[in-house]
Amino acid sequence: MKKMNNKTDNFRFDRLPRDLQKSLSTIYYSEKPIRNPLAVNVIHQGNAAILLKKIEPNSIAVSVWSPPYFVGKNYEKHLDFESWKELLKSVIANHFSIIKPGGFLVINIADILVFRDESMPKIQADAVHRKKVQLTKEEILNFLVRNPTMNRNDLAKHFNCSEQTIDRRLNGNNVRGGKHETQSRVKIIGGLVEDWALSAGFYPYDRRIWVKDAAWENSRWASLSYRSVDEFEYIYIFWKPGITKYDRNRLSDDDWKNWGSRGVWQFPSVRANNDHEAKFPVELPTRVIKLLTDENDIVLDCFMGSGTTAIAAIREKRNFIGIELDSDYVELSKINILKETGINPIIMLNAN
Ligand SMILES: C[S@@+](CC[C@H](N)C(=O)[O-])C[C@H]1O[C@@H](n2cnc3c(N)ncnc32)[C@H](O)[C@@H]1O
Repeated sequence: MKKMNNKTDNFRFDRLPRDLQKSLSTIYYSEKPIRNPLAVNVIHQGNAAILLKKIEPNSIAVSVWSPPYFVGKNYEKHLDFESWKELLKSVIANHFSIIKPGGFLVINIADILVFRDESMPKIQADAVHRKKVQLTKEEILNFLVRNPTMNRNDLAKHFNCSEQTIDRRLNGNNVRGGKHETQSRVKIIGGLVEDWALSAGFYPYDRRIWVKDAAWENSRWASLSYRSVDEFEYIYIFWKPGITKYDRNRLSDDDWKNWGSRGVWQFPSVRANNDHEAKFPVELPTRVIKLLTDENDIVLDCFMGSGTTAIAAIREKRNFIGIELDSDYVELSKINILKETGINPIIMLNAN
């Protein structure tokens, strides 16, 4: 058996109670060392589901990432819901052996707000406040029982409204949908992520809410309904069993008070997603890194996008491993890391 590679651990495994030693031995000691593991401080181009298996076991202090959210972005168009779930499940499962015992997997994700569900009854909302004429379908039908020969034009004259109003009351609005999709609902993602993490061997450790800017414009989800606008995401923190170092000195007193100990984190989204469709702001991985890691630890992002996590890691004097599928985003990461930190990272093309 090979002793784990863990420079910051300062505890004696053999001093643990026997039963703990037994249950943790497969975690602390890796039987299968990896040949040519992925290099550190490098951007690896390839599929996360495959490349994670090539990372040195027990080497990552924190993995922090934001996956495709299944909301129709270009980089996820090839995925249907089943293959999207498969991707996330296998990515989470492949994290277990590579995270240090006592280390963390941190996932930034959101619920899917407009999720097609064909089993939903196709019923249009009755937007009462929009009706200029307070006339109901029942009133027209009752009147028609007594005056069966009346046509749309006669009814419009009688009720002092337009023929369209009569038509809309009798036949409903455009039920084929359009802007207001009738068969879409919220898909709550937290339960899925929890199940995948538990089945991988992790334990839910904490969850925080990131409050971003409210998406007032173009909010198909919220219009003509009682639904709220899209203005927050989740940060789920999973723990790999092992000794977790707890060090209050990682943060200043102000940082502890303002965000370290707080369940709600509030900072704006990236101002312009002009180089990548779905970046998170550098504040997000920076907080995770400051809270959960020490200098020289290795931070992983296997959905690296524009390189934000690597930038945060370098600024905080940590090492990074980045994985990204899209070659344009790999190039973009390299450019952004160089621009923001002065470090020009190597790119490795990995045959998947
Ligand atoms: C939500 S974005 C992450 C953005 C990143 N946090 C940032 O700040 O730029 C998800 C990224 O995952 C990448 N991606 C999608 N499928 C992947 C896979 N199987 N393996 C690795 N990367 C993948 C996409 O190309 C996209 O850049």
